Amino acid sequence: MFIDTHAHLTDILFDNDIEKVLKHSYELGVDFVITSGFNLSSSLKAVEFANKYKNVFASVGIYPEYAEEADALGLAKLEEMAKDGKVVAIGEIGMQFTEGAPKKEIQKKAFLMQLELAYKLKKPVIIHCREAIGDMIEILNQNKNLLEFGGTMHCFSGSKESAFQLIKLGLNISVGGVSTFKNAQNLKETLKVIPLDKILLETDCPYLTPHPFRGKRNSPEFIPTIAENLAKLKGISVEEVAVQTSLNAQKLFCLGGRNA
Ligand code: NI
Repeated sequence: MFIDTHAHLTDILFDNDIEKVLKHSYELGVDFVITSGFNLSSSLKAVEFANKYKNVFASVGIYPEYAEEADALGLAKLEEMAKDGKVVAIGEIGMQFTEGAPKKEIQKKAFLMQLELAYKLKKPVIIHCREAIGDMIEILNQNKNLLEFGGTMHCFSGSKESAFQLIKLGLNISVGGVSTFKNAQNLKETLKVIPLDKILLETDCPYLTPHPFRGKRNSPEFIPTIAENLAKLKGISVEEVAVQTSLNAQKLFCLGGRNA
């Protein structure tokens, strides 16, 4: 059994064959998928989508690019959505200090408000971070109390040092397609040494398709490829990766078993 803890199943690229994709993923052992929102409209879509499929859960959040949506009204809408029984986390939320992104202060405020929301709702967080790891770790350290219900660093691609700082904060490290890329040597070295009981699997589909399928649309069907790569890096069996990462995800997101 595998769990894809971060996907975007409401993406237009799945419009024609999502049922087939979900059925095939399940046959490959991917029991559950968490489909993530990244702004208000995609969060609403994620909730509606999760309510259509037994094995799909949702997370709702406003991520850096849409930080301006996280005003009082936006946060109230998000809170309402998060009360749905299929919503298992707040995310993706975070910071991304790349060119053209909203101002740092706006991003930081949106991130913090959503950390507070997650704490209030007793839910874990799914964090997105690009070129902002220093500020990210600083904010998380200053607000450790808001991480009581745990969380994960989605699409982690940082150093050993930052991985262990995040783990110390009680967070998990989510591993996706990037970990299979030929140029991801540093990340591979990091994954070798971080404990398996802190690792989650994810695809972030339809983006970031693992090697050797790059160029194709990504989907939960590629979770076994990501798991095989991780097993090889850690010198353990794929079964061991499957069992432990599923357990980690079930614990964090309070998911049941296959026939729950
Ligand atoms: Ni994503």
